[in-house]
Amino acid sequence: SLHSRIIGTGSYLPPRRVSNGELAHILSTEHGVETSDAWIVERTGIAARHFADAHVASSDLAREAALRAIEAADVDPQSIDLIIVATSTPDYVFPSTACLLQNKLGITNQCAAFDMQAVCSGFVYALATADGLLKSGVHKRALVVGAETFSRLLDFKDRTTCVLFGDGAGAVVLEASGEPGILASALHADGSHVGMLCVPGNVNGGVVQGSAFLHMDGQAVFKLAVSVLDKVAREALERAGCEAGQLDWLIPHQANIRIMQSTCKRLGLPPEKMVVTVHEHGNTSAASVPLALDAAVRDGRIQRGQLLMLEGVGGGFTWGATLLRY
Ligand code: ACO
Repeated sequence: SLHSRIIGTGSYLPPRRVSNGELAHILSTEHGVETSDAWIVERTGIAARHFADAHVASSDLAREAALRAIEAADVDPQSIDLIIVATSTPDYVFPSTACLLQNKLGITNQCAAFDMQAVCSGFVYALATADGLLKSGVHKRALVVGAETFSRLLDFKDRTTCVLFGDGAGAVVLEASGEPGILASALHADGSHVGMLCVPGNVNGGVVQGSAFLHMDGQAVFKLAVSVLDKVAREALERAGCEAGQLDWLIPHQANIRIMQSTCKRLGLPPEKMVVTVHEHGNTSAASVPLALDAAVRDGRIQRGQLLMLEGVGGGFTWGATLLRY
């Protein structure tokens, strides 16, 4: 039977790195908001994030990450027959960021391209979707990207949210294969929690109706995230007939170090088995998991044949896990 497996990873951070100290200075002088490096580090584990310049869109970040993944996979871009971009910060209302990316990569083979909207679970949702399309034989080689410019959604007068997020992109090339690959996924959503984490706006008559800023009940998100993440990981493990103790690496959504540590502990894993990038990236939403994956692949921590658990959780509320043999 057919499987799908990752044959290359890539990622990209916009060059402007903003430390907590610099952000605190900007917030204080430009927005009259007080925060500190100590508060942010202690509550979240974040020390810095990257912000894209105003003219740079999610598709631009996606392009850089995709080029690196395609280079690592050593494939002809024209051989890609499916592009999925997970993003909550698309360039436009339409067309999809995936179509814009296809064009920016010069892929002229008319392959399928669409966006996946599951906020911070977006990459895991997109990977599971691509896996299904490859396994079923509908497609052969997929480019799966998480790309975000979350800085555009931040209300810099709201210190409870604006210190948490950053911009970036990560990508994988996934290929239909006789050997695994992705072993199992589990995806969930609970739309009754819409208001917990949202950007409750839309365009109507040429103006934004509602709010174009990110709103979050941080403590409610924290509690929900901690309660679902180890469960969904166990669900994926069970589907594949595996146990948590077999995992080589846990690659969770990078939102808050305390949520990540709690999940790691609940799964009975030592902290050394978790890939952490939140300190340098902040929360990059759908980009966080592929950014962390690529970081650990490139520095040699993740080796071929190892068992990886990827996890996402975010607005919707959505959450999911993918277990794979790298
Ligand atoms: N700097 C300084 N003080 C602050 C800041 C800040 N940036 N933000 C809040 N405070 C203050 C609050 O005003 C409050 O002060 P008070 O006690 O005088 O009222 C105090 O710090 C404590 O605030 P809490 O909200 O209780 O802080 P908490 O420990 O819960 O941490 C946080 C807040 C970091 C947001 C935490 O709840 C959290 O991480 N939640 C999860 C958020 C998350 O992961 N979101 C992403 C999910 S994924 C996605 O889909 C995007």
